[in-house]
Amino acid sequence: MPSVYIKTYGCQMNERDSEAVAAQLVAKGYSLAATEKTADVILLNTCSVRDMAEQKAIGKMQNIAADVRKNRPDVVLGFMGCMAQSRGKQLIDQLPDVDLVIGTQKFHRTADYLDEIIQGKRAKIVDVAAEQGSEATIKEHILFGKTTTKAITAFVSIMQGCNQYCTFCIVPYTRGEERSRTIPDVVAECRQLVAGGVREITLLGQIVTSYGKRDIPIKDGKSAFVQLLEAVHEIEGLERIRFTSPHPKGYGDDLVEAYGRLPKLCESAHLPVQSGSDRLLKLMHRGYNRERFSGIIEKLRKVQPGMGITTDIIVGFPGETEADFEETMSLSRAIRFDNAYIFKYSPRRDTPAASMPDQVPQDILEARHARLLELINGIAAKGYDERIGRTEQILVEGESKKGPRRMTGRTRCNKIVLFDGSERHRGQLMDVKITHTGSFTLYGDPAIVNLD
Ligand code: 5AD
Repeated sequence: MPSVYIKTYGCQMNERDSEAVAAQLVAKGYSLAATEKTADVILLNTCSVRDMAEQKAIGKMQNIAADVRKNRPDVVLGFMGCMAQSRGKQLIDQLPDVDLVIGTQKFHRTADYLDEIIQGKRAKIVDVAAEQGSEATIKEHILFGKTTTKAITAFVSIMQGCNQYCTFCIVPYTRGEERSRTIPDVVAECRQLVAGGVREITLLGQIVTSYGKRDIPIKDGKSAFVQLLEAVHEIEGLERIRFTSPHPKGYGDDLVEAYGRLPKLCESAHLPVQSGSDRLLKLMHRGYNRERFSGIIEKLRKVQPGMGITTDIIVGFPGETEADFEETMSLSRAIRFDNAYIFKYSPRRDTPAASMPDQVPQDILEARHARLLELINGIAAKGYDERIGRTEQILVEGESKKGPRRMTGRTRCNKIVLFDGSERHRGQLMDVKITHTGSFTLYGDPAIVNLD
């Protein structure tokens, strides 16, 4: 049977989709190639959020295609995911060596399409159609397959698509309308993962706080998403629950209150703010203002004072003035994010912002990016330093990249902790004392609680 290599760009949802495709192919007898150099099938799972992500994947495919054409002409090449969805056949016109283009609602068809191509039944396949029920097809995990080490954490996709239509964002066009899986379906997948040794689950979706909105009625004041969190929380043996990405407007009191009530729900939230300027938030179509956003953070910190809060910020949205940018700087100072992903605005096809007036020149965009990054990094470093001397509970995920005696885990607030340990710690919840910090990393010493 052939071997496959999948390279993933972009978000956790893409990682999860790639994993599900890999699992699907392994179940059919494929092996997983360690590098693209030895693979019979090479798939790039792509991201469209910014132009740079698209250019990277296209550049990579050009290199692979040049090599394959010369040395291994039978290798099958494919694009999957968001860029495949939004560019479709155009990708094959541009890169004629590509055999397969699979959109975001067709991952489950990958094995069948590869069969057809490998058997010579069809030369090229492009499938970017919508498919009803496709949100429930990303189910298979590779955790129990041929891997030697068991995974401790896992992603579970709970919904697909987004109806928010932020004016800068391509996602509603690449991932489609919001569609949610049912609560029993999600819980069954989580149960199976826990039975296989998983102790932490991250629920995934483009806008998870909109989960089940249309299908599952509010019950006792609780949204469908909070009902799902409660159902997953019931699973015995599961230790931790996280989710990403929520939308700030989905942080009703029911969700805020869940952080105080559900002990498995980790005290961490990735809450994309995008801008601190009310004027820009409106132009972005975000559905909240600065005051509302700050209010949510305040409420969360009241329920869980040590909450880890991270965000996404776009600099250089069309029309962003120095005053608007200063508002983002001041909001960042006021909230003191634990970390922020700062994106330079990138015009995306079909989005309203791409044709808005006053696009920000590149040099200003770069300068603002650098200023904000410095501010965010400074605040974050202080936050990390403040943890020195504290004891934190971590879930040990496995070896760090630095070698087998250095293990890695994460605190409940989602900060990475490295410590000297061994394989026997994998999967354990343990207390470590924080001894020093590195860049966005804590170093810990296994602690015996109540002894110091
Ligand atoms: N340009 C720059 N950043 C973007 N993001 C989404 N669309 C764009 C764009 N056109 C960022 C947002 C989002 C994150 C995933 O990517 O901050 O939260």
